[in-house]
Amino acid sequence: MSDTLSIRDNRTGKEYEVDIVDGNISASHLRQIKVNEGDFGMMSYDPGYLNTASCTSRITDLHGSQGILRYRGYPIEQLAEKSTFLDVVYLLFNGELPNASESASWEERITHHTMLHEKTKRLMGGFNYDAHPMGVFISTVAALSTFYPDAKEVESKEARMLQACRLIGKTPTIASYAYRNSRGLPYIYPDNELSYTGNFLNMMYRMVEPRYQADPVLERALDVLFILHADHEQNCSTSAMRNIASSKADPFVSVAGAAAALYGPSHGGANEAVLNMLREIGTKDNVADYVKRCKSGEIRLMGFGHRVYKNYDPRARIVKQIADEVFEVTGRNPLIDVAMELERIALEDDYFVKRNLYPNVDFYSGLIYEAMGFPMEAFTVLFAIPRTAGWLAQWMELMEDPEFRITRPRQNYQGFGERHVPDDYRS
Ligand code: ACO
Repeated sequence: MSDTLSIRDNRTGKEYEVDIVDGNISASHLRQIKVNEGDFGMMSYDPGYLNTASCTSRITDLHGSQGILRYRGYPIEQLAEKSTFLDVVYLLFNGELPNASESASWEERITHHTMLHEKTKRLMGGFNYDAHPMGVFISTVAALSTFYPDAKEVESKEARMLQACRLIGKTPTIASYAYRNSRGLPYIYPDNELSYTGNFLNMMYRMVEPRYQADPVLERALDVLFILHADHEQNCSTSAMRNIASSKADPFVSVAGAAAALYGPSHGGANEAVLNMLREIGTKDNVADYVKRCKSGEIRLMGFGHRVYKNYDPRARIVKQIADEVFEVTGRNPLIDVAMELERIALEDDYFVKRNLYPNVDFYSGLIYEAMGFPMEAFTVLFAIPRTAGWLAQWMELMEDPEFRITRPRQNYQGFGERHVPDDYRS
């Protein structure tokens, strides 16, 4: 058995042999298929990239039909149970989990970068009090590029790791400053004695107490949610990151662009949209009618469906467990009953069963964030903070990829052929 694909072009009767590597064919090998010498050659056509592998990666492994997600080979369930977010970031960046001393020095290194340049506060203060936190987050991350001219040294492995550590350290500070700004509250500086999520909660919620100590259950719950959101292979925002960075733009503006892609309600913005939806439904009695509207195509059931998972999203299962632990501390979010009824009805309904539509990671996460006191508009920022790790890991992999090229897709042009601008076209 040879690892090739035989293609017969029935337009010309010609036959071609195309190599199969790792189960795939290279799209550029199709270019030899031509009707005549002047022909550009055949391309593969794939709007929305439903069946296109855009890169070779060794970071995240996802088997959508089986509901499997692994970072560097480790199942997400085990990482969520036994690891911490910062150790997972180390794993994504370096390929291996850190040992005890590596973990401690890694935490110290990231903590070293949690402060923002003082001028950032003035910049953030310029936004209206009701500015959407994602707009503030995206703009501020992009603005950091101007504070770190060395970020342009994208060819240097050392410089890349330095910028990556800066971004991991600073994103929670940016998110909390955006929140404090919207509430007219003074900014709280990072406290390096606290854990990554403990410090984030401190910067969000500290008022007049000399030291803020987050509830350990909530601190751990947020850490696990960060682990679950850290990477998800070549999704819309990660592909945006790779696209932007392929022009050798610096990682601050590239992460800002990736965060912009995440902002949309079909992607990371879905956690906010789910809560809006649950509020609109209001009570369990209204669920059946709402599902009917989804089935008629009038609206989409937010937090349901996924391009890759055609089974229960393994992250959603873990998020559901965390919800119970969080509600023990915060009290039950009444909308959880609406969400569970919605899930129950949808999973029994033929429309959703036939299309393999299951809850995704965003279905339950918003309920937890709300119970923890985060404003709804900040939910997508809570996704962007941990996903920054994935974007950066993918960027570092891209920069070392022997097949590195600037991203430049082709198109299937079906517009006008050449025509002439009439002299009197304005009349
Ligand atoms: N509610 C109702 N119907 C749906 C939903 C939904 N949430 N999602 C998909 N469908 C239906 C579509 O109408 C379509 O039906 P049809 O074949 O009769 O036309 C079919 O399922 C396939 O849908 P597509 O849009 O082709 O699927 P695609 O893979 O392009 O979209 C997406 C995936 C965008 C996630 C989609 O399922 C969706 O819009 N979900 C709601 C938004 C959401 O929760 N996004 C978060 C995703 S997770 C993340 O980004 C972190």
